[in-house]
Formats: sequence, C-alpha cells, structure tokens
Amino acid sequence: MLDAKGLVALAYPVSVVGVGPGSGEYLLPVARAAVQAADVLVGGQNALALFASLGKEQLRIGSDLEVVLAYIETARQDRRVAVLLSGDPGLFSLLPRLRQHLGVDAIAVIPGISSLQLACARLGIKWDDLTVASVHGRGLDGLSAIAGARRAAVLTEPKFPPGMVCRYLLEQRSGFQQAWVLADLGLPGEKISHGSLEAFAGQQGDGNSILILSRDEPDFGSLASADGPTAAAEPAVQPVSKSGEAVGTGWYGDVVTPGLPDKLFMQGEAAMSQEEVRALTLCKARLRRGLVVYEIGAGSGSWTVETARLIFPGTVWAVEKNPTAAALVRANLERFGITNARLAEGAAPEACSGWPPADRVLIGGSGGKLREILDAAAGRWLRPGGLVVITAVTPETFSSAWRLLQEATWSEPETVLVNLARVVPRGPAQVWSGENPVFILSARLAGESLAAGNC
Ligand SMILES: C[S@@+](CC[C@H](N)C(=O)[O-])C[C@H]1O[C@@H](n2cnc3c(N)ncnc32)[C@H](O)[C@@H]1O
Repeated sequence: MLDAKGLVALAYPVSVVGVGPGSGEYLLPVARAAVQAADVLVGGQNALALFASLGKEQLRIGSDLEVVLAYIETARQDRRVAVLLSGDPGLFSLLPRLRQHLGVDAIAVIPGISSLQLACARLGIKWDDLTVASVHGRGLDGLSAIAGARRAAVLTEPKFPPGMVCRYLLEQRSGFQQAWVLADLGLPGEKISHGSLEAFAGQQGDGNSILILSRDEPDFGSLASADGPTAAAEPAVQPVSKSGEAVGTGWYGDVVTPGLPDKLFMQGEAAMSQEEVRALTLCKARLRRGLVVYEIGAGSGSWTVETARLIFPGTVWAVEKNPTAAALVRANLERFGITNARLAEGAAPEACSGWPPADRVLIGGSGGKLREILDAAAGRWLRPGGLVVITAVTPETFSSAWRLLQEATWSEPETVLVNLARVVPRGPAQVWSGENPVFILSARLAGESLAAGNC
C-alpha cells in the first residue's frame, strides 16, 4: 500500500475479536466497536450472522485455513480486517495460528465471554479448578488432557457430541460420576441437562455444547458450592491399605516424583515391586512427557500407573498374561483415574501386535520369553535410540538378561543391584530387615546416540 507521499505504508493490524457465545446480549461494547470499525469481517457462520446487518464484506472461515490466512494477509494491506472468533480468543480458537502467521505485533486481541464462563455462570460454579479439554477439531484424543482431573469441562462439536464423549470416558473408566450438558448457551434454544455419564452415553445431538464432568460430588449443589484452596488441591488418588480399605485421602494426587507409597495401590496375588525399586526403575527409563512406553508383564499395574502419570499425555501400552493380574491392573488404573494406558490381556510378544512404535520398553516379567521379547523390542518395537529397562529378581533372569544386553543390537548396557533394608520392630527393639535384592538392567537400541531426537 502506498500513502499520499508515495511511500510504502504498513499494513493494518488485524483485530481478533471474541464475540461471545453468539448473541448480541453477550457481546462486549469494545468488541462491537472493533467490528464496526472494520472494513472486512472474517469468521464462522454464526459469528458473521451477528453482524450481517452491517453490510460489510465478509469471508466465511471454512476448512481451508491457508486460503483464509492468505486472504487476511492481502486484505489487511489496505483495509481493516476483524477476525471474529466465538467466545474468547484465548480458549481453543484460531488465535495461535493467526499469531504465528501474522506475528504478535500485527494482531490486536479483544476478549469475549467464553462458552466456558457462561456454562459455569449458569451452574453457579467457579471454573478455576476445572481442567479444560476440547474435542472440537481434534477428536477424542483431546480428552487425554482431563485424565485424572477431579472436575473437567469439555468443548464438544457435532462430530464428537457429548454422548460420544461420555461413552468414551466410560470405556476408559475415567471415574467421572456426573455430567452436565449445556447446549446453545446464550441462544434461544439454550438447554441444560444433568445426569450420569451412562445416561448421556445413550444420547445423540447437542453437538456444540459444554460438557461439565465431576468425579465425586454427590449432587449439583455441592459442585456449585465447593470452593477454597483445599477443594482444588484434593487428589484424584484414593489411598487404600493392602486389604483394600481406604486409608484416608492423602495428598499424592499432584506429587510428581515416582515411587508412590505401595499402600496407595490395590494389591492382590500379583507381585508388586516395592516403591523404592519402582522409583529407581522408572528413573532408569529416563521417561519424558509424551513418550510411548511398552510395559511387558504389568503385574499389579503399579508401574503402569506411575509411568502413565509421568509421561502424560503419552501412552503406556501394557500387557499381562494372567487374567487375575490383568483385573488388578485395571482396578489400579481406575483407582488412579488413568486414561492414558491401554492393557492387552495375553502373552508378549504376540499380544503386542498393532501397537504404535515405542520409545521405551519396560520388562517386569517375561514368562520365560526374554529372548523373544528383546528381539521384538530391538527388531520391531523400539524407535531409534529407544531404551529397554528390565528388572530381575532371580539369578537366572539376571544372567540371561545381562548376557542378551551384551549383544550387538544393544549399546550402553548398565545394571545396578538394589539392596533395601527396612527398620522393623523385634520385641522391644528395632532391627534392620533386608528385602530381596533386585537387579535393574537397561540398554539403548544400538545405532543411535543419546542425542536422538525422539528420546
Ligand atoms: C472452537 S471452540 C471455541 C471456544 C471459544 N473460544 C470460547 O471461548 O467459547 C468451539 C466450541 O465452543 C463451544 N461453544 C461455543 N459457543 C457455545 C454456545 N453458545 N453454547 C455452548 N457451547 C458453545 C462448543 O463446545 C464449541 O464446539
């Protein structure tokens, strides 16, 4: 664009305007003013409809975002462009794409009343302790964000309506007990319903809704009234003793270090590694958020739970051949509200077919098939640079594992022997009592250095 003196002038900044839930009533005056000042309006069908009477040039945002971005870039050279986003631009919107494409100096963001705010206002609840996820344009994978949350909100869309989300959360044993579906908020057809996840799971429709989920509130009133820092900090974890009874609420829900107390887990016949050994084992796995971790021989599920918490939003793919132990794994996943772990019942390596490429393979039990499992890990499962970690309690398992990790397939073999002793009462005195020693072995898939991108 040239100005009156023939100099190159800067393009106009783009107004990114939050237009609220879709009715004039909830449109902020500052947003209305920005729209009125604009020459060109870009937005979704509902947002544009709000301003149809202004008679401005409009471009509807469709599926081809690149076309829209190019249009905005061209239009802003000589006209004022306002991009209209539903609710508030800071909540699951195009804002990051616009910022990335145009640069932060070329946009002016005008906040709006978000659908989440309006939903919480309708229920009379606060939203600072809600974990928020969206399936809009991202599908059910978006729900990994609410794993373990005590209260959550999900933005839904017609392809992934509340009923489908509730069905999925039930399949995943998410532990949410109640749901509220708030559809068409602030619009003439506004509808608010409340019920169990099972009740909503059978329903169709109500695509563009806010779904509010609660794990433990007995009724609507307590969801509305619970407030204060203790309510927000209460953990999703329900501690239990070895016999399964509750041992108090504890405060482990947001503890980030591995080696959660053994008493938090449901325990049965399946062997469970002690918390200190579990902590060291997971440290040797050098876990990171977002990894894909295989767990061979999940036993009681204590590694599964801890790994899932540490790598979230990555996924644990666990296998367990003993049906009783598999049931215990499921029970512990449910107890901790874990949604980012999958369990196959069967024997490795056969039962692991169809799993995605792994970054780590943890072997807690191999059922006499260590050679086959390590061959599969090296040949098919692990991505370049991936790690294998094995625990061994018998001399036989240790020696065959250590020998196999010396083969050319593996590099950086390492092992430590963990000897634990605890103080126990003996008569009037206290003495040290030694636990069974455990070997932890680890190695890296040969051919890649520590700097390998995915690891
Ligand atoms: C792409 S997200 C945008 C969210 C928006 N930035 C906000 O702050 O509300 C679109 C989702 O917002 C929710 N939504 C928007 N308007 C709504 C309304 N009037 N009633 C209920 N949900 C609404 C729906 O979950 C819809 O799928």
